[in-house]
Amino acid sequence: MLGTFYGIGVGPGDPELLTLKAVRVLNQVDHVFAAASSKNDYSLALDIARCHLRPATPVDCLNFPMTFEPEHLETAWQANCETVRDLLVAGKDVAFLTLGDPMTFSTFNYLLRKVRRQLPRARVQVIPGITSFQAAAACATIPLAEGEETITVISGAKGGERLREVIAVSDNVVLMKAYKQFPQILSHIEALGLEHKCCFISRCGLEGEVVETDFGRMSAMNPHYLSLMILKKGGISV
Ligand SMILES: C[S@@+](CC[C@H](N)C(=O)[O-])C[C@H]1O[C@@H](n2cnc3c(N)ncnc32)[C@H](O)[C@@H]1O
Repeated sequence: MLGTFYGIGVGPGDPELLTLKAVRVLNQVDHVFAAASSKNDYSLALDIARCHLRPATPVDCLNFPMTFEPEHLETAWQANCETVRDLLVAGKDVAFLTLGDPMTFSTFNYLLRKVRRQLPRARVQVIPGITSFQAAAACATIPLAEGEETITVISGAKGGERLREVIAVSDNVVLMKAYKQFPQILSHIEALGLEHKCCFISRCGLEGEVVETDFGRMSAMNPHYLSLMILKKGGISV
């Protein structure tokens, strides 16, 4: 009998934002994994969930290199998949923790694809988590969308170059990964005349949380990896 592979969303930072179901399953599984950078072996998802884990449950980090190089990533995720696969074959239930929600911009899906390829009959259960942008909207008290409005969620990892095309067809935009290419992102926002219609949120629910609506102050920032922006064509004030 194969074990069950669980993808568990732990929310964006506040340990009280795990669902009841996530906490229940975490207390039942045989082994817990979380992704960690091979640089420092640190997993924020694990930090968030740690207070909900039984002390006796084995917990391990699955390392992945901080690179976009497909070959490196492939090798790392293959090894990680084999670690999970061996436990599932031994009949153990395995949980993989993800920051926010497992089906939203998450490393869980690399692993899931590989596990499914190797063990097509293994049972998979995904437990959704509160996404970073839901928590950010709550924290900044900015509605993500109302009535018939549309909302689009995109990555800002490449500098927000798609912002123009997306904002043309969407009332509201969430720009994830608003950190590395932050100056480019701000220039796109300025060029579109949205400087007073955006909000920057960083480390939501964590120490050092920032909520900023002043475009001038944003321009002086050097944002943390855990940063995103909410843009609203209709304006951010409620
Ligand atoms: C790899 S994605 C993970 C998204 C996650 N699965 C979710 O459901 O929100 C990482 C990006 O999520 C956003 N993020 C995650 N946690 C956050 C937090 N606590 N505060 C602000 N942004 C956060 C940032 O844009 C970050 O660059």
